[in-house]
Amino acid sequence: MHKGDWTVPQEWHLYRADEHAMWDRLFERQARLLPGRVAPAFLEGLDILRLSKPGIPDFAELNARLMDATGWQVVAVPGLVPDAVFFDHLANRRFVAGRFIRRPDQIDYLEEPDIFHDVFGHVPLLANPVFADYMAAYGRGGQRAVKLGAIERLARLYWYTVEFGLLRSGDSLQIYGAGIVSSFSESVFALDDPSPNRIGFDLKRLMQTRYRIDDFQQTYFVIDSFEDLLAQTIGTDFAPLYQELAGSTDLDVATILPGDTVFHLGTQAYARSRPTHSSGSSE
Ligand code: PHE
Ligand code: FE
Repeated sequence: MHKGDWTVPQEWHLYRADEHAMWDRLFERQARLLPGRVAPAFLEGLDILRLSKPGIPDFAELNARLMDATGWQVVAVPGLVPDAVFFDHLANRRFVAGRFIRRPDQIDYLEEPDIFHDVFGHVPLLANPVFADYMAAYGRGGQRAVKLGAIERLARLYWYTVEFGLLRSGDSLQIYGAGIVSSFSESVFALDDPSPNRIGFDLKRLMQTRYRIDDFQQTYFVIDSFEDLLAQTIGTDFAPLYQELAGSTDLDVATILPGDTVFHLGTQAYARSRPTHSSGSSE
C-alpha cells in the first residue's frame, strides 16, 4: 500500500469537481477572514498556494515553488503515520499531508486533519525561511525525543506553536498556528473571545501544560517572533529539561501561574459552557 516512508502518490487527477469546489470555498473564506488577524509571513506564503489550476493544489506544482523558497516539499500519506516516520520526514524537510478533503457536512469540524488543514494551514509558513528552519529542527528534536522517551513533552511544543501559536505584534496579537488559521471559528475565537488565556511563550512551562484535542484551546502561548522561537528552541538542549520534568505533575489546560506573562486572563466562560471542560480534557 505504501512505501517504507509511508508516502503515497497524491493522484491529483482523481479529485472530483465537488472536492475541488470544497477547497475553493474553504480557501476563499479563510483568505477573506485572515488579513489583519494572521502573521504577515503567512499571507506572504499564501501566494505559493495560488497555483495555475483552481481547486486542490497539485503537489508536483506546489513542490516546485516550495522547494525554490526553502527546500521543503509536501508528501501525501494515507493518514496518521508513526512518530519516528513523521520526525524523519520533517528533519528532511518533507511535510506529510493527508490527501482527502472534508465533506460538506464537516465544513466546520472534523476530527482527522484533511488536505485543507494540512496544506492551507501548514504550507504557507513553510515558505518562510525562519519557520522552515524551525520545522526541520523540530523533526531532529523529535528523533532525539524518541530516544529520550520524551515525545509527549515535545509534542506539546508542536501543539502550542505549530498548531495553535499566537504571535505578538506591538500591542496586539496575531494568529499563526495551522490549527487556528485553517479554522473559520477558531481564527476568530483565538484572538477575540474573552474565554481563553493568552500567555507568553515559556518552553519549560509549556512542556508541562496539557492541551485539548476536542474543542477550542483554553490557553494560547504567544511568541515574540519566529526568530525568537527558533533561537530559544535550537539554542536549548532539551535533554536536561526532559529529565527535570520527568517526575513533575502536568498543568491543567487553564492554569495561570504567578510567573506567567499574561496578555489576557481568560474568563474560561466558553469552556465552562461546554458539556466537557478542562477536567475532562485529554493530553
Ligand atoms: N534543541 C532541541 C533538543 O535539544 C531540538 C529542537 C529544536 C526541538 C527546535 C524543537 C525545535 O532536543
Ligand atoms: Fe496540523
